[in-house]
Amino acid sequence: MNPFIQSKVMTAEDVANRMPLQGTIATSGFTPAGYPKVIPKAYAARVEKEKLAGKNPWFNLYTGASTGDELDGVLARTGCMKKRLPFQSTPDVRNRINSGEIDFVDMHLSHVAHYIRDGILDPIDVTIVEAVDVSSDGRIWLTTSSGMSRTYLHHAKEIYIELNSRPPIELKGFHDLTAPEQPPHGRSVPISRVDDRIGRPYVVVEPDRIKGIVLTDLDDSSGEFKAPDENSVLIAQHILEFILFEIKKDRIPKEYLPFQSGVGNVANAVLSCIAKDSRFHEIEMWTEVLQDSIFDILEVGKLRCASTSALTFSKAGHKKFLDDINELRYKFIIRPQEISNHPALVRSLGIIAMNTALEADIYGNVNSTHVAGTGMMNGIGGSGDFARNAYVSIFMAPSIAKGGAISAFVPMVSHVDHTEHDTQIIVSEQGLADIRGLAPKKRSEVIIEKCVHPTYKDAMREYTKDSFATAKTKHTPHNLHKVFDWHIKLIETGSMK
Ligand code: COA
Repeated sequence: MNPFIQSKVMTAEDVANRMPLQGTIATSGFTPAGYPKVIPKAYAARVEKEKLAGKNPWFNLYTGASTGDELDGVLARTGCMKKRLPFQSTPDVRNRINSGEIDFVDMHLSHVAHYIRDGILDPIDVTIVEAVDVSSDGRIWLTTSSGMSRTYLHHAKEIYIELNSRPPIELKGFHDLTAPEQPPHGRSVPISRVDDRIGRPYVVVEPDRIKGIVLTDLDDSSGEFKAPDENSVLIAQHILEFILFEIKKDRIPKEYLPFQSGVGNVANAVLSCIAKDSRFHEIEMWTEVLQDSIFDILEVGKLRCASTSALTFSKAGHKKFLDDINELRYKFIIRPQEISNHPALVRSLGIIAMNTALEADIYGNVNSTHVAGTGMMNGIGGSGDFARNAYVSIFMAPSIAKGGAISAFVPMVSHVDHTEHDTQIIVSEQGLADIRGLAPKKRSEVIIEKCVHPTYKDAMREYTKDSFATAKTKHTPHNLHKVFDWHIKLIETGSMK
């Protein structure tokens, strides 16, 4: 511990007492990786105390993406979180968003830095980041995620650091931190290969803006990943067959294009299947989250390199990471989300994007965020950054949910995150619909035949027949009297059947 750190050490309670009772808090953290873990708890305790004393505390919370319960959960349970952005997945935050208590701003992750830099969002009072080291000249080495930390550090009135001794000090060197040149006349980001490094491995701030450092020794609270279920494996297999077909057609090069893989169990399954499939050789990943499945790929020697904004491993995955950390520093690069999700880079690198949908409709519009049109699940996250700009944009979803009570394929999505103009390939365990270059009616035929579960196929055919017959204009036919019948039935009876 250097003298600078020693001079700044204080307790989480000290920090909590210095933080404003009303204002905006920004933190590190992208998925449950690299987020502060003790100051939020101390701040929540202070907020509770001040509430009892008749004061009116409130705060906004900005992060990179979702975080752990030690940050999102404890702060939401105070009942004083006013605004949250840009993504979340913690039950206590989700429930409070859906009860109307928290204002949630569901944003493309690549937009957040611009909104902060250009003063579109409320200014940041306090930034708290987790770090593995801090130098006396103000260099800060981040832990398992990059997310928004660099921008939040540059734009905060006051900075506090949780210096965590649990993540390995060898994380120094994994990060590549920089920001794109700004308009007008900003030149494009000079990355043409996944492993190009163009930034610094640390963030630099004026040392006197660091007001306190809290020492911690805690793991990220990432959950366990389920072994891929039968449907996830079927979805993965359809995608792999599609990629091999595209290579045969010379539309994807033999050495592939970099893969982006979304969050969740289905996404994890696709990578596990690439690892097992002997027809697949070495790949590159350009993505925002690396999950445990990256080790399946590594163990069979099929990973050339991976660029990400976070390392989100289970306990078992974390152990594998520690075991090979010296080798992995040449394979993994952790970047700010403004770079990992940069639309121009996604386009120029030619990403194969694979994201999960909650529901899709017969024309290819996709809903990734809202249950039955009004209830927030997690948020759009990076899926829009990738889907809109990818070389191939794939959306995957099991064809039914909740034991068959819900069809993931509906006449019209109850909320639109990705429009029919952005989606190209839609996959369920039933099959793969390639809707590129198809007009709406043809798209609906392909999606119904390839993706819809047999339980719902006849009802869907019936709907399209009726809408083709009754719609006055027939480019994208719908029967607006019936288009949400399935969702209404779900709300009223608990099932779309
Ligand atoms: N209506 C209501 N609920 C649905 C549904 C639908 N159409 N489709 C799925 N669900 C439910 C599932 O039943 C499950 O609920 P449970 O946990 O109570 O069983 C839950 O949604 C998650 O579904 P699951 O099949 O386990 O998928 P997942 O873990 O892969 O997550 C998303 C799917 C869409 C929620 C998740 O991928 C997400 O938040 N995506 C948006 C952000 C994103 O894509 N980020 C990636 C960019 S890198």
